[in-house]
Amino acid sequence: MSPTAPASPALPTAPATPVASRRLRAIAGRFTTGVVAVTALREEDDTPVGLAVNSFASVSLEPPLVLFCVARTSTSWPGVRSAARFCVNILGEGQRQLSTRFATSGADKFSGVPWTPSPGGGPVLDGSIGWIECSVEEEVPAGDHTVVLARVHDMDAPREGSPLVFFRGLYGRYAQL
Ligand SMILES: Cc1cc2nc3c(=O)[nH]c(=O)nc-3n(C[C@H](O)[C@H](O)[C@H](O)COP(=O)(O)O)c2cc1C
Repeated sequence: MSPTAPASPALPTAPATPVASRRLRAIAGRFTTGVVAVTALREEDDTPVGLAVNSFASVSLEPPLVLFCVARTSTSWPGVRSAARFCVNILGEGQRQLSTRFATSGADKFSGVPWTPSPGGGPVLDGSIGWIECSVEEEVPAGDHTVVLARVHDMDAPREGSPLVFFRGLYGRYAQL
């Protein structure tokens, strides 16, 4: 029999507190992030699909896991999750327009965008400062989003360069202090 992790003690219960969504967005938006484009070839017809994401985080080294959160309204996520492998492209500071395009629902996101397939077939966008090839490990419903836990299969950093930065709803660039 395989050993099982001990059960976590029960969490304290607390009544729901009313929180204004706009205020939460404004305050949480002070937490500065990079931007990734999550891309894949849709399983049904190999069409490249993707979306801009800043809720990305590295989770575990052993096993290698990352996570990000996807809005339930995303029209691109069903296509991305249909693929056996997808790519997390870490965007560079020169890819602001690409980020805007990948954040626009219904846009022809890949038109004129050069990319090459990762070993598992996920689109690696030219100019990305790193890519991580993943598969979906687990999806956890979380309010109006889904937390996606993804297993890492391959990765590379094809070029040096500074990251695209996102702070209070605006793009910026990284500066070392
Ligand atoms: C900088 C930036 C970060 C974003 N991060 C996320 C995110 O973490 N999760 C998410 O669901 N949407 C995020 N979005 C919005 C999605 O990119 C956008 O809603 C999505 O591309 C809509 O297109 P779709 O319907 O084709 O999925 C972000 C947008 C921008 C500009």
